[in-house]
Amino acid sequence: MNPIRHSQDKKISPSKQQNNSKHANMSNGMNKSINDRSTSYRAAITGCGSFVPDKILTNEDLAKMVDTTDEWITTRTGIKVRHITTGSETTAYLATEAAKKALAKANLDPAELELIIVATITPEMVFPSTASFVQRSLHAKKAWVFDLCAACSGFVYGLSIVQQFLESGRFKNALVIGAETLTKITDWTDRTSCILFGDGAGAVVLERQNTGRGILYSTMSSDGERWEALNCQAYGSRYPADKKLDDPKKIYMQIKGREVYQQAIRRIVEAVTECLHVCDLGLDDIKMMISHQMNGRIIESAARRLKLPDEKVFINIAEYGNTSAASVPIAFDGCVKQGKIKQGDIVIFVAFGAGLTWGASVIQL
Ligand SMILES: CC(C)(COP(=O)(O)OP(=O)(O)OC[C@H]1O[C@@H](n2cnc3c(N)ncnc32)[C@H](O)[C@@H]1OP(=O)(O)O)[C@@H](O)C(=O)NCCC(=O)NCCS
Repeated sequence: MNPIRHSQDKKISPSKQQNNSKHANMSNGMNKSINDRSTSYRAAITGCGSFVPDKILTNEDLAKMVDTTDEWITTRTGIKVRHITTGSETTAYLATEAAKKALAKANLDPAELELIIVATITPEMVFPSTASFVQRSLHAKKAWVFDLCAACSGFVYGLSIVQQFLESGRFKNALVIGAETLTKITDWTDRTSCILFGDGAGAVVLERQNTGRGILYSTMSSDGERWEALNCQAYGSRYPADKKLDDPKKIYMQIKGREVYQQAIRRIVEAVTECLHVCDLGLDDIKMMISHQMNGRIIESAARRLKLPDEKVFINIAEYGNTSAASVPIAFDGCVKQGKIKQGDIVIFVAFGAGLTWGASVIQL
């Protein structure tokens, strides 16, 4: 996709945004900036791409590994298959392949890239960053690079960071990638978690534009009190590699499924509602909500509470499972490829994950 310029582009004018100051002040302190900030530059998505490993793990395969069934997984999560890495398919490799596709769509030479953010909780190594490896593979010598650890919200957090740099005029372009190899930290004996996750990467190129297109608003939130709901505890400074773990399962992801389920619905609804209020948009203005794909039932339940009709909710979890930071850009790329969204449309990205973290972006394509 190269969604640059469209005669039908809906312009959210600075005056319209100013009229929303009552909503902005009600929501949180961050929103004050929507009135202060010059809207002459926006961070517009000019290309997207995704990449998943070829190898597929089906529900039937999982039923041979743990006490589960295709029927249980399908009805409780919506997942049918997930892609899993093999051999040399590391996180940086997946990220680079997705990035190449996004750059090609944007027709942007990697040598011109100014910022690369890789959102991931399954990095290439402890350090350097996965983004360093992506920079190396792309020969993006000019770029400033780092990883972003906000779990499933990482990609949406990354968009918000890029928004600040492009709107301020500091950078002309940026590449945001969500890339994960979650199956490397999956406990394949735990039926409550091993059915959920898959590997993959998605990427978008954003460029500074003054066409009115781009990120109209973004919001991010977190609640560190609930860190235990989702975690992987080894091998950081609390449980270093040279110390025997009190529980060997700490090398794997651990989830409190029910707690996550309830929090996810609540926070998705909150974030999307804030976006609609601050941008003074109604449901008719929104072409599609592209949510983090954590569980089809969570997305459907949040959409029902938001009164979003089915055709405005993109769900592709059946094919990929939960790919954490990669899931929103993979879903966005799929949505574009299926022709469900086009230049000029307004879409909402929303995500929720470990931390806890959550966030959303309203974007005019
Ligand atoms: C994990 C999740 C699918 C479980 O679905 P649920 O409807 O909440 O199911 P429950 O956990 O209440 O478990 C219901 C029963 O199914 C059983 N069960 C759990 N996993 C099972 C599986 N894979 N196959 C068969 N039965 C399973 C449970 O043991 C429980 O049995 P019990 O009633 O005899 O105790 C759901 O809670 C979820 O998606 N949560 C969020 C996941 C998450 O954290 N994602 C990552 C962050 S974005």
